[in-house]
Amino acid sequence: WGKTGHRIVGLIAEKHLSKKARKNIEKILKTETLAEVSNHMDFIKSNDAYDHMSPWHYATIPDGMTYDEAGTPEEGDIIQTLNRLIAELKTKQFTDEDEAFALKCLVHLIGDIHQPLHVGNGEDKGGNDVKLEYFWSSSNLHRVWDSGIIDGQDYSYTEYVEWLDHASAEEISAWQSAGILDWAAESVSYRPQIYDLPESKKISYQYDYENLELLNKRLLQAGIRLAGILNEIYG
Ligand code: ADE
Ligand code: ZN
Ligand code: ZN
Repeated sequence: WGKTGHRIVGLIAEKHLSKKARKNIEKILKTETLAEVSNHMDFIKSNDAYDHMSPWHYATIPDGMTYDEAGTPEEGDIIQTLNRLIAELKTKQFTDEDEAFALKCLVHLIGDIHQPLHVGNGEDKGGNDVKLEYFWSSSNLHRVWDSGIIDGQDYSYTEYVEWLDHASAEEISAWQSAGILDWAAESVSYRPQIYDLPESKKISYQYDYENLELLNKRLLQAGIRLAGILNEIYG
């Protein structure tokens, strides 16, 4: 996701934390909120020292394959990194600074794995190579999903969350009982809808109309699941 998407996920999670988890997280992040730290992992991309982390924002699962069949690449991916971060945050004795960094990465990556195109098919860089025209400007499918549709709604991230944050108790418990491989498999399952583009590759209102509900569900699930994991770690 882009900046707004990650902030939405962070703010939804904040609203679903247990009291104890909220307190513990405040101690680690000091003055910053989950929404405010949610984009840290993208900000550091401009620093060469963090280049090895760029493959950690996505995974590749070709059409018709499972993650286990596809395998983990040597450089790591989002699934391996999430498993590692969650295990470390549960057990490892971190320095304060390292723990804050790991937590910021967790917030970011639980967001990203719910962006369906962050689980790519291995053929088009998660839709980055699918060039198209979005509202009469050149763009690509990945960018439309990261930020185009969200920023087109013209809400601040706090307004967006007020609009979205209405999950039922049943949804919350079902969503929080799924695991990381389920989140990734869900992302894969939406490919037919996401790639359903007109031959002209010119999209605007109609594509938004057909995909906004799915996109909003992914943001909401990401926030609710992030809260579930944080309540397990810090609750
Ligand atoms: N680069 C290659 N595959 C990608 C993906 N699925 N998401 C983001 N960047 C990528
Ligand atoms: Zn992206
Ligand atoms: Zn990212």
